[in-house]
Amino acid sequence: MRIFDIITKKKHGGILTDEEISYMINAFVKGDIADYQMAAMLMAVWFQGMNDHELSVLTQVMAKSGDSVDLSAIEGEKADKHSTGGVGDKTTLIVAPLVAACGGKVAKMSGRGLGHTGGTIDKLESIPGLRTSLTRTEFFSIVNKIGLSVISQTGNIAPADKKIYALRDVTATIDSIPLIASSIMSKKLAAGSDCIVLDVKTGSGAFMKTLDESIELAQKMVSIGERAGRKTVALITDMDIPLGAAIGNSLEVIESVETLRGSGPDDLTEICLQLAANMLHLLDKGSVPECRAMAKNAINNGSALEKFAAMVQAQGGDASFIYDTHKFAAAHYSRKILAAADGFISKMNAEKCGIAAAILGAGREIKGAEIDSSAGIMIRKKYGEAVRKGDILAELFTSEEKRLEEAEHIYKDAVAINEKEPEKIPLVFARIE
Ligand code: URA
Repeated sequence: MRIFDIITKKKHGGILTDEEISYMINAFVKGDIADYQMAAMLMAVWFQGMNDHELSVLTQVMAKSGDSVDLSAIEGEKADKHSTGGVGDKTTLIVAPLVAACGGKVAKMSGRGLGHTGGTIDKLESIPGLRTSLTRTEFFSIVNKIGLSVISQTGNIAPADKKIYALRDVTATIDSIPLIASSIMSKKLAAGSDCIVLDVKTGSGAFMKTLDESIELAQKMVSIGERAGRKTVALITDMDIPLGAAIGNSLEVIESVETLRGSGPDDLTEICLQLAANMLHLLDKGSVPECRAMAKNAINNGSALEKFAAMVQAQGGDASFIYDTHKFAAAHYSRKILAAADGFISKMNAEKCGIAAAILGAGREIKGAEIDSSAGIMIRKKYGEAVRKGDILAELFTSEEKRLEEAEHIYKDAVAINEKEPEKIPLVFARIE
């Protein structure tokens, strides 16, 4: 088999065989196919696409290119969730305890933030003492004991994706729906859960800016999951505006605790209930509405908050911070942003809000950079709300005073006030199964 012939076939819109896909990925990981040849192949896929069968084979070969996490040491079926990333997206911190409180098992590997979007691991690490790097034995034992654990990705998960993603990043081939779908799903398949709920974000703060693209991506990922024998559902949810009111690591942990107590923002609470309901449904705990009611009850009776505190403690964190969030250190500097006119908040660009938070220190511009746990933004007036001149729109927090000026400028640019009340944006646009 020659990679030259496989590239030529895809360039002309041909359908690759299972053997061709398998050869191409495995030889590339071994170093037997050069970067420039794989780059040409990726560009051919960018133009010609892949059918569902090719995509399923590609993803499974990528998933098997490294370690596959064997979760069989954990009793029962396990559910995972994945968000395509957004601003203020702290849903894992709420959904995993909700599912565990309703009898489900969540053994989850999460990532760190990069650019304008945050990462669950950075948020968890703002809790003093909490370890996200656990041995497999510790990880399995915590999930068996309390029903959930969230750790950073360990081992050699989907190295084919790592190598391909690095090439895509420098060859203008990131924005290909089949390549995004195979990249995300190869890691989810390798992570080993039986059930997968995908939260595909759409809008200004998301990877996918339009609803049509988001639906297409969700359909491809659901098809890949089902063809690999995993129960998979996707929700298409809004990321035109940030989720909840908090953007930034410890601020988002505090907001997650409030949501688990039943006093969180409505949008965040609703999305978390729907994600948890779909995970519980895939775990055969009932219909989606029945599972939603179970999850709501786990908020009302305090059991979901207890699960979160139990996970924090089991991973070495100080659980007293969960019961008393005033213990989180406050940022040294803050600035209030005030409304310049009466009206309604008619625009709230999620990406720009995320960039403003990153500039305050909540995110990192380069891999491995330090982040400031207490930095970020508390949104006081959300899209659609009425405001009077002088009202507080948001508060900015940082440990470095000099960062306030630029962040304020960007936040003001992200938000607009108009005399007319804007149209409501749905929270969940579609459910794909
Ligand atoms: N996230 C991924 O893991 N891969 C992509 O290609 C895009 C987003």
